[in-house]
Amino acid sequence: MPKNRKEGAILYPMKKRILPLVIGNWKTSPSTLKEAITLVKTLEKKLKTKKKANKGYYIAVPDLFLTPIAEIVKYGKVGVQTVSGLSLGAHTGLSTIGMAKSAGAAFTLVGHSEVRARGEAGNILSQKVASTLKEKIMTVLCIGEETRDGQGTYIGELEKELRNNLSLVDRTLFENLVIAYEPVWAIGKDVSATPSECFEAVIALRRALASLVGIDHAKKVAILYGGTVTAENAVSFLKEGGVDGLLIGRASTNAFIFADIIVSCNSL
Ligand code: PGA
Repeated sequence: MPKNRKEGAILYPMKKRILPLVIGNWKTSPSTLKEAITLVKTLEKKLKTKKKANKGYYIAVPDLFLTPIAEIVKYGKVGVQTVSGLSLGAHTGLSTIGMAKSAGAAFTLVGHSEVRARGEAGNILSQKVASTLKEKIMTVLCIGEETRDGQGTYIGELEKELRNNLSLVDRTLFENLVIAYEPVWAIGKDVSATPSECFEAVIALRRALASLVGIDHAKKVAILYGGTVTAENAVSFLKEGGVDGLLIGRASTNAFIFADIIVSCNSL
């Protein structure tokens, strides 16, 4: 595993990645930059005490905190929660992926259900995924069903969504693609999906990817689980849920809990 010793950061090119991807999603928190800096400093201090553990992690932060947080993070990588997918021009209020990269973003989430719920249309999303992958930035495409019935109808929905979202992507760019399986019914709730519910969806997503781009390209894609991940259930998704990592909302905004999750996942 290559290490960027100068920055103390651990890099995970998809081809050689051996650690699970542990990604925090801060959403719209904490409320000030000062609190965000304290959160990262506390997290890293806690990680530093874990002598033998691998300490790599990712956090998707609010845009306005991107550069100052990227400047102080030692063990992790910082990214954004969404991006426009547009190029330079007259698009008031939006940023390009190139701007995000130049401000310190090592990755971006796209298609999070909370962004989709604000009206992100399918054609915009497929354009976004295509443009972020073209920029060779790690792109975490979030995908998940609204509800799950006993009949497995949701599997067809997941496959269809995946096909649509990736319709404009050149398959040779798949090595920077990560899929986060995030069942909408488990996000921000008290109860997560079970590892076996996760496993069932992951198999369906892997199959859909393979039929879309062939097994060799599909194999390069890491799949994560997200939706009420806690310190108690995190490892079970890696062990029994068939995933390569986790996308973590609320639990990533508590430095102590997030550090515990990072250490337990990276110690497997
Ligand atoms: P949660 O959020 O862990 O708070 O459920 C997950 C997400 O929205 O990515």
